[in-house]
This record gives sequence, structure tokens and C-alpha cells, in this order.
Amino acid sequence: MAELISGKIVSQKVREEIKCEVESFKEKYGRAPGLAVIVVGNDPASAVYVRNKHKACLDVGITSYQIEYPEDFSECELLRKIDELNADPMVNGILVQLPLPKHIDEKKVIDRISPLKDVDAFHPANVGKIVIGDYDFLPCTPAGIVELLLHYNVEISGKKCVVVGRSNIVGKPMALLLTERNGTVTLCHSRTVNLPEVTREADILVVAIGKAEFLRADMVKPGAVVIDVGINRLADGKLAGDVKFDEVEPIASKITPVPGGVGPMTITMLLKNTLTAAKLQL
Ligand code: GUN
Repeated sequence: MAELISGKIVSQKVREEIKCEVESFKEKYGRAPGLAVIVVGNDPASAVYVRNKHKACLDVGITSYQIEYPEDFSECELLRKIDELNADPMVNGILVQLPLPKHIDEKKVIDRISPLKDVDAFHPANVGKIVIGDYDFLPCTPAGIVELLLHYNVEISGKKCVVVGRSNIVGKPMALLLTERNGTVTLCHSRTVNLPEVTREADILVVAIGKAEFLRADMVKPGAVVIDVGINRLADGKLAGDVKFDEVEPIASKITPVPGGVGPMTITMLLKNTLTAAKLQL
């Protein structure tokens, strides 16, 4: 039986700390830190994430500006709105929810956000800073995973870490953060030859590929720590991670559930980045 790594519990603790810091910020500067979240179109998953982000902001005292546009909103107008938010002193963090509709160039949008307000840490300037270990913000999901590992006393230094998935949002920055903490990191992807052989080497295994119940028991070393980043909707409407939980849980030493594992931590790190951004902009 694996120990459950609860993102709910760790989030609660970190959010209490953030709430206190937001309170001090308000007393000192007479206003709360502000986060603007932009959603374009009506992706149902995005709608859920954005609602959760809004609620989390309110819970810790951060002012949340939710900006919603229809599916056919133009790229030009979106860029203009980002310029306006970049110049607005009440807005400390700007997040444009991905994916965007196909007619909008995501790269152009990310590049337009002021690096000082880029609470996702997706801007090339911030990604570069992370690569050299001199950063203001860390990307929310990988940062949340590191917090979970630290909270549950999982030693990273010297351990074999395998990350499955090479997205810019999770896989690549996850590999960087584990490297920074002295893990020995292998980054796997769809072209990896004999994936189970590689994942079976892992002491710490992070799976972020967006395929429901992809990671099976024969891909896991007994005693491994398994982190499941996936949030997939099954045909019966239930949520499932990228890990086949019932199979892997008896083998792992520690494992994150879905939901209640990585998800809450991602939002918590967004709150932390917004507070950091507000302080940086003083
Ligand atoms: N879509 C899925 N995850 C994320 C995230 O962390 N940030 C943004 N902006 N969009 C997302």
C-alpha cells in the first residue's frame, strides 16, 4: 500500500501562508495583489480550471479579474487587451488560459505578456531564467510537484527521476527543476524506445502525457514515488489520471491521487507567483 500524496492537504497549508502574506501586503500597500485570467472560447476543461483559479484567489484575498471572450475573438484584440493589462498597476499577474482557439497564435500571445506579470512562467525570458537557475517565477505544475515531494520527505538528490511527456508546460520544466535539485533525470516522450524499460528504472516517476490510465504496473519499480499529472475524462464521465491507479498503487511507495493530487498544487503555485509578481512590481 502506497502512502497517498495529498495535494489538498499541502495546498491548504501553503494557502494559509499565502493568505497571511497577502494580508501583510494589503496593510502595507493599501491594496491586494491582482490576477487577470483571460479565457477565449468555451473549452469545458478550461472553464473548470478558470472557475477554480477565481475561487482560490478570493479565498486568499487576491483580487481576481476574470475576462471571457467568445470563440471568434480576434488575435489582434487579444494582444491589445494584454497591452492594457501590462500597463495596469492593479493587475500584477496575467494568465491566458491555454489552449486558445486555432486562429490565435499562442506563441505571439505568450510573448506579449510582460515577463514581470507572467505568472505561468511561459514567456521565453522566464523560461531562459529557469534554465540557468536565476528565476523570479517557476511554472505552476512542476513547482507544485516539487513542493509535494519536499512535504512528503521524498529525497530528490542523487535519485533516478523519469519524466514522461515533454510539454513546455509540464515535462520540460519538470526535468529542469528535478535537475536543479540534483536528481538524475531522463525525459521520455512518444518516440522513446522501450518506454517500460526506462520507467522501471525510476525512483521518482512523473507522468504528464494526457492519456488516461496509460502507466501500468509493469512500468513501475517496486517502491517508486509516482506523480500523476493527468486529468482525463473517461467515457463514463469519471476523472482518471495518466496512471492506472488501482494497479500501480500497491507497488508504489507514494502516489498522488486524481483528483486531489497535483491539481490543487498547480493553483496554489499560481497564487504564490501572483504574490511574488506583486512584490516584484513595487
Ligand atoms: N492550460 C492547462 N494548464 C495551464 C496552465 O498551467 N496555464 C495556462 N495558462 N493554461 C493552462
